[in-house]
Amino acid sequence: MTNSTATLLADLAGALGDAQVLTAAADVEPYLVDQRGRYRGAARAVVRPADASQVSAVVRICAAAGVPLVAQGGNTGMCGAATPDASGTAVVVSLARMRRIRALDPDNATITVDAGTTLADVQRAATGAGLMFPLSLASEGSCTIGGNISTNAGGTAVLRYGNMRELVLGIEAVLADGRVWNGLRGLRKDNTGYDLKQLFIGSEGTLGIVTAAVLKLFPAPRMRVTAMAAMQDVTHALRLLHRMKQSLGDRLVGFELMSAVALALSRAHHPELPDPLPGHPWYVLLQADDSAAAAPLAAEVEAALAGAAEDRDIADATLAQSQDQAARLWALRENISEAQRREGPNIKHDIALPLSAIPAFIESTASALTDAFPGSRLVVFGHLGDGNLHYNVAAPVGGSGAAFMDNTSRVNRIVHDRVAVAGGSISAEHGIGQLKREELAHYKPALDIELMRRVKAALDPQGLLNPGKVLA
Ligand code: MLT
Ligand code: ZN
Repeated sequence: MTNSTATLLADLAGALGDAQVLTAAADVEPYLVDQRGRYRGAARAVVRPADASQVSAVVRICAAAGVPLVAQGGNTGMCGAATPDASGTAVVVSLARMRRIRALDPDNATITVDAGTTLADVQRAATGAGLMFPLSLASEGSCTIGGNISTNAGGTAVLRYGNMRELVLGIEAVLADGRVWNGLRGLRKDNTGYDLKQLFIGSEGTLGIVTAAVLKLFPAPRMRVTAMAAMQDVTHALRLLHRMKQSLGDRLVGFELMSAVALALSRAHHPELPDPLPGHPWYVLLQADDSAAAAPLAAEVEAALAGAAEDRDIADATLAQSQDQAARLWALRENISEAQRREGPNIKHDIALPLSAIPAFIESTASALTDAFPGSRLVVFGHLGDGNLHYNVAAPVGGSGAAFMDNTSRVNRIVHDRVAVAGGSISAEHGIGQLKREELAHYKPALDIELMRRVKAALDPQGLLNPGKVLA
């Protein structure tokens, strides 16, 4: 250990206590690898501050020593944003101990939480007050609000409630010089100049370390209907979406697409789950909520599905008859990502497209990929209601997943070029991190990159906050 590292560690221990400065290999290991096992980094130490003032102390110490900082929440990110690089120079700041629910204001319908609070804990606290926090993700038991904010997380209820960006009213963040910026306001209207909190949302820890947030709460749904429908192609799925929006308005909360390949993968790893509508190429899982307990929601969903069947937009459909049945249908959808991870590496895309462009995109991309990589498996699923597809490409059956990853640049070009032509985005809800840094540089207009660099330089002049993430 160099003298400078020894001094740094002593200063950090002075601020946080010895027990919260981890350096032993076994202690730091879980913080150095992303959840998909795709990125492995190194760090001088992992620190575990208890509150914003300790985060501030850590940042001041590291800034004075010129040491990079990587903030980490539940380490469930998809793009390696929370994993340090391999240089071993960084200090990882884990926010996992910062889990206080600071305030819940039912009259203002807001909750104020520390950044390390898990999404599930926020949902539970809201439910306990007869309200609801709508962000919903497969990893909600372990992902944290700070991570959700830093990646502008989306999930399965964006259609009705928006991304994290729309759900945050206020933020507290530690700046690159260690000052604590207090933007913890609970206002739904505030036109006093630039909306600074939005800079920190979706910036993946590159502009500041989010330490707390004020989040919007909503009336709890008292009626919930979950249904699954099968159809021949995505054009028909979009027709069903249109019909459901017309029938249900903003009571349509989620509209999820699954290809037969994606669904089969989920069931292969969870054979205990149902297969309610076998034998179709595409499926939609939809959820509608109403906060009126006596709303005739099930009858309305059923009538809309019957109309869709009559017009041959869907081939078959089923309505969950109990909460348990609904949970099992949702498990089919939510397990796809985990099932893919267990199958081995695959080339992931998290794209957003105008809804109207999706059928042509699916057709032309699938044929270009199967021409270039015969037998490759397209695992397509995602949040069709938001125009967000997880368009993943895996090796042919029996082929080596690891070897197939060598094709990543070519596959990315085929997929992302078509996304760009359709006016879409190469990252809808997972962020950029390390995974899409080069893709961002390739597709973002030069002026966008220049403006992003100027914002970065203004907020982090030493370039110490999560270096090498988002911007190359
Ligand atoms: C999902 O929608 O299941 C997640 O975003 C995860 C994924 O794309 O792998
Ligand atoms: Zn998703």
